[in-house]
Amino acid sequence: MAKYKIALLPGDGIGKDVMDAAQIVLDKLGLDAEYTQGDIGWEFWCREGDPLPKRTTELLRQTDCALFGAITSKPKEEAEAELAPELKGKGFVYASPIVRLRQEFNLRTNLRPCKAYKGNPLNFRDDIDIVVFRENTEDLYAGVEFHPLPAEVMETLVRNNKKMKRFESVPLEDIAVSLRINTRQGCRNIIRDSFEYAKKYGYKTVTVVEKPNVVRETSGLMVREARKIAAEYPGIELWEANIDAMCMWLIKNPQDYGVLVTSNLFGDIISDLCAQLIGGLGFSSSGNIGDNYAVFEPTHGSAPKYAGQYKVNPMAMLFTVKLMLDWLGESRMAERLEKACAGVIAEGVVRTYDMGGTNTSLDVASAVAARL
Ligand code: NAI
Ligand code: MG
Repeated sequence: MAKYKIALLPGDGIGKDVMDAAQIVLDKLGLDAEYTQGDIGWEFWCREGDPLPKRTTELLRQTDCALFGAITSKPKEEAEAELAPELKGKGFVYASPIVRLRQEFNLRTNLRPCKAYKGNPLNFRDDIDIVVFRENTEDLYAGVEFHPLPAEVMETLVRNNKKMKRFESVPLEDIAVSLRINTRQGCRNIIRDSFEYAKKYGYKTVTVVEKPNVVRETSGLMVREARKIAAEYPGIELWEANIDAMCMWLIKNPQDYGVLVTSNLFGDIISDLCAQLIGGLGFSSSGNIGDNYAVFEPTHGSAPKYAGQYKVNPMAMLFTVKLMLDWLGESRMAERLEKACAGVIAEGVVRTYDMGGTNTSLDVASAVAARL
């Protein structure tokens, strides 16, 4: 029996292209794993009314982790319009499968390393090595939203908070409310993970990125918990920054930062900013990590215009494989893969279009495999 069971979820569009690239590298690495393909994405929404069929979550429950490509999502009306005729009007509602995976498997930590590799012409600077920890299941993305605002919710809010008074006269159908919900445990978990990572990989600072001077309760909770946890890590400095100022500092002095830790929405924003500093979507990898399960994915989407052309940069996916190897505890293999990717980038001979080259995704994967 193989040491690991891994689910492969290529999904839509270039998700399939980069998954083929990943397989070239996984085969060459010789990871002792049994791979099973799972169904996820737009095709299954259109045909079955569910982009994440139950058989897929059941498959995931029998594996150690999953490697995911990308999916296509569309706004509500378009999603409805593309449903198979016999499914229309039956109450099917599209919900992002990746968000559902994060919630169903409690993948509470989103890890996004953003490291500049020498020789990448797309680097903003060559000395950037930032790792973003983003809380993955709470905050403004908890999905607790109201529009129109139910009358009893309005009454309760007005009774409990005098700042709600000025909204009392607004018609209920003209108010939309999205709750930012952050729990102490949620804050502690993401902060703990960020400090453990800093300790393990030798980062000197953890910067908590919030807005506690304005968003006092939720951002405040995060910063207060960060201070408590930081006290347990004497070798690592805690820095505090506001999300708005941080966007500026990340352009001005990105080389000064190490680990960043933040809540879900702010993390979504700064992780895209950080990804662009090191070459953009073709380089940005991520892990969605829980206590017992993890899903690894490049951060790009399905880029429909390039689907099936093997044109896009597979580096994001190959660095995603590296993250998966690290999480599985195969750190030697992870290191070999990172070195091989770095070697191909530095040599600058085999490159996809985004780096100014004409090679295919599979050429790049083969060049990496050749160095393993
Ligand atoms: P996208 O990430 O799919 O592509 C935007 C553009 O970035 C592409 O047209 C391409 O020029 C470039 N790009 C993306 N990946 C690249 C790579 N590996 N190498 C080189 N260039 C690359 O974002 P877009 O166009 O906004 O969304 C397309 C679809 O993907 C939508 O349906 C969207 O909902 C979905 N999406 C899915 C995500 C996921 O699966 N986690 C994340 C983001 C978007
Ligand atoms: Mg995002």
